[in-house]
Amino acid sequence: MLIVRDLAALRDAVREFRAEGMRVALVPTMGALHAGHIALVEAARRPGTKVVASIFVNPKQFGPNEDLSRYPRREMADLRMLEEAGCDLAWLPAVETMYPDGFATGVHVSGVTEGLDGAARPGHFDGVATVVSKLFNQVTPDAAYFGEKDYQQLQVIRRMVADMDFDIEIVGVPTQRDDDGLALSSRNIYLDETERQKAVALPRVLGIAARAIGRGDDPAAALAEAESSLETAGFAVDYVALVDAETLGTEPEAGRPRRLLAAARMGATRLIDNIAVDDGQ
Ligand code: PAF
Repeated sequence: MLIVRDLAALRDAVREFRAEGMRVALVPTMGALHAGHIALVEAARRPGTKVVASIFVNPKQFGPNEDLSRYPRREMADLRMLEEAGCDLAWLPAVETMYPDGFATGVHVSGVTEGLDGAARPGHFDGVATVVSKLFNQVTPDAAYFGEKDYQQLQVIRRMVADMDFDIEIVGVPTQRDDDGLALSSRNIYLDETERQKAVALPRVLGIAARAIGRGDDPAAALAEAESSLETAGFAVDYVALVDAETLGTEPEAGRPRRLLAAARMGATRLIDNIAVDDGQ
């Protein structure tokens, strides 16, 4: 696996991949890799494709009171995992490479960014859209892979790619979960043992609510019940919302795919999760 920290060297390597007739797939990450990221690399690995994974803890997507300084950084272990997963190139730009002195541009996607995590974390999706569009311009991939766990992020990126004519296929990869159902996240390591045990309520409660709504129960009642069950389990709830799976509008029209999204804090750790609502369950 090539390890590249310099933009000119990245461009040379990508040019060589293309000269060999290969497609290029990008897996953007912030490191602290787990099986969820490895599933993205595995989904990206196809015959005729070179996989580039980026590791960059993007300061622009953290709010002033968020966990940028304590966000886990484990470069050696991450590189080992990427190599074992069959990644071809690890792209590790420094903050100064990504945002040199004088950097003054931001990418803003409206609509899909406005509620949910966009409301709870002002500026977060501007930071995500800015860095992902930079990664797209640096790596020039044919396809890019994102986890469905960050469902709103995935829809923001789909919107940005469509609006800005990026000629890149965006592939959403299903959420990877621990055996008890908790979605894998780099932030799960912040949970102590008791919090970790309680946290399993998040996927359980979402599953119960999604099945109730899919059967035709009143969505407002199911959401209220979910919120109260999460609070009983020890969560402080940011939101539990039923949305249109594409626009993320909170009043999904009949017949359109729907998704249930939630964000809640267990102690100091903010967890998010989501699940599709299958109608007629
Ligand atoms: O999902 C993430 O890890 C990040 O938001 C991303 C897409 C790598 C951008 O920094």
